[in-house]
Order: sequence, then structure tokens, then C-alpha cells
Amino acid sequence: MLDDAAIRDYRDDGFLVLPDFVAPADLASLRERAVELVEAWEPGDERSVFTTDEQSRASTHEFLDSGSGIWCFFEPEAFGPDGRLHAPKHLSINKIGHAQHDLDPVFERFTYTVRLAELAADLGLVEPLVLQSMYIFKQPGIGGEVGCHQDATFLWTDPITVTGFWFAIEDATIDNGCLWAAPGGHRTGLRQVFERIGSVGGALEGAAGGDLTRFRVLDPTPLPTPPTDLVPLEVPAGTLVVLDGLLPHWSDVNRSPRSRHAYTVHCISATAEYPSWNWLQRSADLPLRRLDHVTA
Ligand code: FE2
Repeated sequence: MLDDAAIRDYRDDGFLVLPDFVAPADLASLRERAVELVEAWEPGDERSVFTTDEQSRASTHEFLDSGSGIWCFFEPEAFGPDGRLHAPKHLSINKIGHAQHDLDPVFERFTYTVRLAELAADLGLVEPLVLQSMYIFKQPGIGGEVGCHQDATFLWTDPITVTGFWFAIEDATIDNGCLWAAPGGHRTGLRQVFERIGSVGGALEGAAGGDLTRFRVLDPTPLPTPPTDLVPLEVPAGTLVVLDGLLPHWSDVNRSPRSRHAYTVHCISATAEYPSWNWLQRSADLPLRRLDHVTA
């Protein structure tokens, strides 16, 4: 799948851009299915909004339970002062997460492919498990910023193995909020982890795996400052961008009239330890599956 130069680039930069990885028909069917899922979805009372802003990160029950389900999260700017949506539901959703690759046949077919499994093997990911997926809308006009972060903050393993596969479902440009990355930034340490603490009605201290969350700082070195310390990854639809789990990356708000749909899959190695304090926990009846089970 990859030649030596591409593997070297990935090791050096912490990311790899692979144009034309997905056929247009497969992009169209995933996009169509994502809109269908949104149309069929009924929001709960908590009206889960997704933001990566540290101060306001909403760890609702919907968010914490979404590792084993399919849930839609609103854009923070989707609601007017009267609490009503400005736009139709399918133009108000920030993302769908986080287990559609194991629960929906269209997402499952897109995710578990021989090509992606071969790519993961080329990159040295041993026994890859598909931990989560997200369909990100980056809606026209209101698509929210995703603050500069390292994916290992949210999906930590010992040792760190998380690898992101970011599929451009639509063209991604500076205008509509493309990815930006810090080349070589994956060779710096992990700054913080996002962890569950406490439990309902329980004490905070030492109770890992509960349903409160916090960020725990491991290394106070600031992450690169966007956009000056980062490079834009403007890519056409069908491109796959692979991201090392320690690579600092960011995407800006989308104030353009064009959406920027993307689908992401995060894999970890089955050989690494996955702690009970990670925010994302799977229920026992939905075990993680290997990316390469299609090839078995
Ligand atoms: Fe990320």
C-alpha cells in the first residue's frame, strides 16, 4: 500500500496525506447515510452540544454513553437566543459519534476495508482495534472550531498507539475549516489526558471510571499556537489524512457558505492497555473489532 518514502514522511511529519483513497460513489453513500441518521435522530432533553473548549466541555450522559451508540451533537451556534434552531436539523449537527462503524451497515462497510487494514499494517499498527468513529459536518456558517489538541489526550493507551484516519468527504479548504497540523509535533510529549473521575453520588477522589470528567496536565509545555505554528492541509474530497496520535492539530470555524464533511476513525493496538478512566468506554455487549477482521 505505501512505499518506503511515504512511511518515512509519516514518521518524520506525524501525518500523511493520501489523495484519491476513497471512490466518489463511496463518499456519496456515506454522506447520504449520515444525513439519514440525523433526520431519524430525536434529541434528548440535554440537547448535547459538542465543543472542545476546555472550560465548557459538556460531558453529558449522551456524550459519555456514545462510545457504544450513535448520537448526534449540535453545533454550539445552532441555537438562537430563543433556544430554537436557526436551521433545519441536518444543518445544525456538529457530529455523529461514536460507534456507527459497528452499528450501521453503511458506516461498517466504509470503515472495515482491506485497503485501510493494509495501510494500518504498513504504518506498523499491530492488531488494530477500531475504537471510535465520528462523522463531522463542519456546517456552513456555524461549523465550530476544534481547538489544538493531540488525539492521545482523549484516547490514551499504554503505550500510546492511537492513530487517526481522517477522510475528506467533501473538499477541505482554509475557507471552510480544513485541518491544520504541526509537522514533527508528534515527537513532543503528551500534554494532558481527558479522564473520567468519580461516579454518580460517589466521591471524586480516586474513583476512576466514573461519569465526571477532567483534564489532567502531564506536561505544561504549550501546544503550538494556531494558525501561525501550523500548516493547512487543504485536500480534495476522497483524500485520507493519517494522523499520529501525538500530532498537534486544529481546525478553524467555518464561516463560509460551504460545509466541510469529514469522517474519522481512530484505531488503537490490541496489544496496548486501555484504562477504565478513558472517557470512551464500550459496553460489554459491543466489543471492539479488529480493523483487519475483513481480511481474515
Ligand atoms: Fe483530533
